[in-house]
Amino acid sequence: MSERKKVSLPMLFRKVAEGKPITWLTCYDYPTAYLQDQAGIDMILVGDSLGMTMLGYESTLPVTMEDMIRHSQDVRRGAPNVFLVGDMPYMSYQPSTETAIRNAGRFMAEASCDAIKLEGGVEMADRIHGIVSSGIPAIGHLGLTPQSVSALGGFRVQGKGALQAKKILDDAKALEEAGAFAILLEMVPDRVCQLITERANNCIIMSLGSGPHAHGQLLIYHDMFGLYPRFKPRMAKIFGEAGKVILDGLTQYVQEVSEKSFPQAENWFTMPDEEYEELLQMLDK
Ligand code: KIV
Repeated sequence: MSERKKVSLPMLFRKVAEGKPITWLTCYDYPTAYLQDQAGIDMILVGDSLGMTMLGYESTLPVTMEDMIRHSQDVRRGAPNVFLVGDMPYMSYQPSTETAIRNAGRFMAEASCDAIKLEGGVEMADRIHGIVSSGIPAIGHLGLTPQSVSALGGFRVQGKGALQAKKILDDAKALEEAGAFAILLEMVPDRVCQLITERANNCIIMSLGSGPHAHGQLLIYHDMFGLYPRFKPRMAKIFGEAGKVILDGLTQYVQEVSEKSFPQAENWFTMPDEEYEELLQMLDK
């Protein structure tokens, strides 16, 4: 297991003060969490994107709190030292502040998360305020917010026009004032992200496809390694063709079993001759 110190909120703010970018990835399972912790990732998001990347839904909307808690627990077991963020799924916080606090508390109590994230701007500021007032660190999410993909007109850049950009800046201020310790900007133009980062007071700004000026970067793990078959977003750099490596291995497995070249002697177990003889005698009786 990793020897490194557990990443805490003060450590994240220290990195920001020292001008060191924060690293953040999505993760949904134990073995990947283990590898991410070993690699020294600062933060993990158990995103509701798991609905698409792990469960094969068309969107994130069908994801439940039970799905999120189960996967967050798996990730925490694999990555005890990262700063773990649970993503609040669709309708786990929208109905009321009370619902939001109760479900945020589940991430902390049942999955040992360090913080939660939720989508939305000024209209969600009271949810953020309620959650933070209950002692739970909260992250806001602006720009492309996948739970509102229908209202936003699809998976597209948000804030290209001055009016829309101003609304994102106002939303960021409202979330910061409500107590969010961080805000994720997804698919927002780089200059909008820069303006928000420069204006942030005591709030960490993270970028997903929003350029280099934020305090840190987030990527979706499956996009980085070619593991999501449906599409590859432009903002994702491929850091390794894991999907291809796995597919090649699977194809080889099918071929070797079919042509009887797998298994070989080193892949099975034997029993001593005398035990085998005794067994045969038993069967003859
Ligand atoms: O669910 C998720 O992984 C997210 C990212 C798209 C930011 O919210």
